[in-house]
Amino acid sequence: MVSAIILAAGKGRRMGSKLPKQYLPLLGRPLLAYSLLAYEQSLVDRVVLVVDPLDRDRAEEILQRYQIHKVSAIVAGGRERCDSVFAGLQKVDDGGQVLIHDGARALIRAEEINTALSVVSRGEACAMGMPVKDTIKEVGEDQSVIRTPDRSRLWQVQTPQCFLTEEIKEAYRRYLQEERSGATDDAAIYELMIGKKLYMIEGSYENLKVTTPEDLLMAEIILRRRGWSP
Ligand code: CTP
Ligand code: MG
Repeated sequence: MVSAIILAAGKGRRMGSKLPKQYLPLLGRPLLAYSLLAYEQSLVDRVVLVVDPLDRDRAEEILQRYQIHKVSAIVAGGRERCDSVFAGLQKVDDGGQVLIHDGARALIRAEEINTALSVVSRGEACAMGMPVKDTIKEVGEDQSVIRTPDRSRLWQVQTPQCFLTEEIKEAYRRYLQEERSGATDDAAIYELMIGKKLYMIEGSYENLKVTTPEDLLMAEIILRRRGWSP
């Protein structure tokens, strides 16, 4: 059994809109509908959708309107992303694999999901990402440069991030129990708490996380090129 957790319980503060970004229109459809449709078309068996309890009706309306049938549970998210993932993991059965996806990554495609799924089905944890294009600087609090890591070894990390269900559950259980913080993705929690190999798999530069208003424009341009219309 391959499950996915789609995270949509964030507040979208950087977007600065009253409506949380996952419900903002992209070519007239709610942003969250696109990733739900991609998972619906993928080889994933079932999807756990994590939302703010106040937006449950909104989420159910999307499932109905876009005929999403793979969602087996809608669960209430938590304060931080890791709390939302943990809530979602409680609804995923042991003995399979789980793909964790940011609902804000509306541009994920079913083929990319299937590529990730084929890697984790071999028992290997993996995260989708791309080699960085820009040189990256590590800077101090006064913005002075500390060092310039070798760009050829740097990747930007996206989702899905894929794990054996028991392993990622164990990683999260220990991470939260030890009251750790600071991890910004699931892979970091896995690296810290499990320490087994995790592979980067090449996705697409189009798989952006809609975060600020200009990302909405970019996403619409990409969707139009893929044949979507309003
Ligand atoms: N997310 C979540 N629960 C949280 C925080 C985030 O389910 N407590 C989800 C978001 O809905 C999003 C994904 O995790 O799909 C990635 O988070 P991010 O892009 O940071 O979204 P927000 O936290 O909503 O945005 P911001 O950080 O700008 O407030
Ligand atoms: Mg956030």
